Amino acid sequence: MTEEYIFAMETSCDETAVCIGKLNHAYQTFEVTHNIVRSQIAEHQEYGGVVPFLAARLHTKTLPPLIIRALQEVREQDNHFSLDYIAVTRGPGLEPALYTGVNQANVMGATSNAPVLGVNHLHGHIWSYLVPSEGQTVFLQEHDVPFLALVVSGGHTALVLVKNFGFYEVLGQTIDDAAGEAFDKVASMLGLGYPGGPIVSKRAAEGDPHRIDFPRPMSEKPGLDVSFSGLKTSVLYYIKEQGGVEHLSDTHINDICASFQQAVVDTLLIKVRKALKQYGVHKLVLGGGVAANPLLRQELETVAQEFDIPLRLPSSRVTADNALIIAVDAGLGRLYGHRGQETVEVDPNLRIEHT
Ligand code: KG4
Ligand code: ZN
Repeated sequence: MTEEYIFAMETSCDETAVCIGKLNHAYQTFEVTHNIVRSQIAEHQEYGGVVPFLAARLHTKTLPPLIIRALQEVREQDNHFSLDYIAVTRGPGLEPALYTGVNQANVMGATSNAPVLGVNHLHGHIWSYLVPSEGQTVFLQEHDVPFLALVVSGGHTALVLVKNFGFYEVLGQTIDDAAGEAFDKVASMLGLGYPGGPIVSKRAAEGDPHRIDFPRPMSEKPGLDVSFSGLKTSVLYYIKEQGGVEHLSDTHINDICASFQQAVVDTLLIKVRKALKQYGVHKLVLGGGVAANPLLRQELETVAQEFDIPLRLPSSRVTADNALIIAVDAGLGRLYGHRGQETVEVDPNLRIEHT
């Protein structure tokens, strides 16, 4: 059989997502037939961040109708539809949230006899650059390994050497807060709401990145690890020195956002350059929610030019969490011979090196 359907689910954090598509082994393509994301941001906003048990409750409520609708639609489109493989994020993420997707996948697998492919959420972000900005066909054959992937999300920040599909080496990572988490915390200090990344980057676009000289943590230290906790504290002290957030003008808040964002991007870029000097790679790849940041995207372009390697950025369709990137990782897994299991297990602390 050269074609098979993959049904993918994502519930690791605050998006409930389902994707269905057809994997073609001969052409190495994944044809998306259905892709839907339901964000829970509005429900978590009043708590200033994602509440794990609320996330799980909302996934439990939202996921079954999404699955039923997706299956109905795909059956209407293709009367030869068969549920061949079920893919699901099994970690890392919020434990109660992950269980909703994984339980659903295991039950669907058992009742339909379809094998279940457990997916590492961060691998989904790594391969998200394969999804084109438009159209439904994802070409899975472009690998040119080894490459360097910068994975920046709300929960993770890591520089990963991708040696091949399934072979990942973490060269450096955050020793405390993730980049997205720092954006979220600074937004909260400035009273800008949740999630912080999109609003801070929007305000930063109006501000002066040179007004405040925030630290570039760990940049002098050897190795490829990063840290954002000290930077976050510097922003907090700065706001206090100004007499609190209520004494800041809109322009001043824009300048704080711009200066903070520049410090985050500079810190990441120092380590990306260092990694590129140490490791010969064929390309540079970006993935994760913070990949939506325009300054980071723009400055990585300069780095890639300096090193004369291509830069592959994820399209804005897939920077935030979704099930399409989970299907893409599962599809690659199938092309590499993965056969799936009867059931998969949740691992909230799943490491990048593991599947
Ligand atoms: O990958 P993701 O959707 O969820 C996790 O797997 O964690 O990442 C979410 C993170 C949040 O911290 C959010 O504030 C951040 O991505 N983010 C951004 C931007 N858009 C989203 N950070 C900086 N600039 C942005 N434009
Ligand atoms: Zn994510």
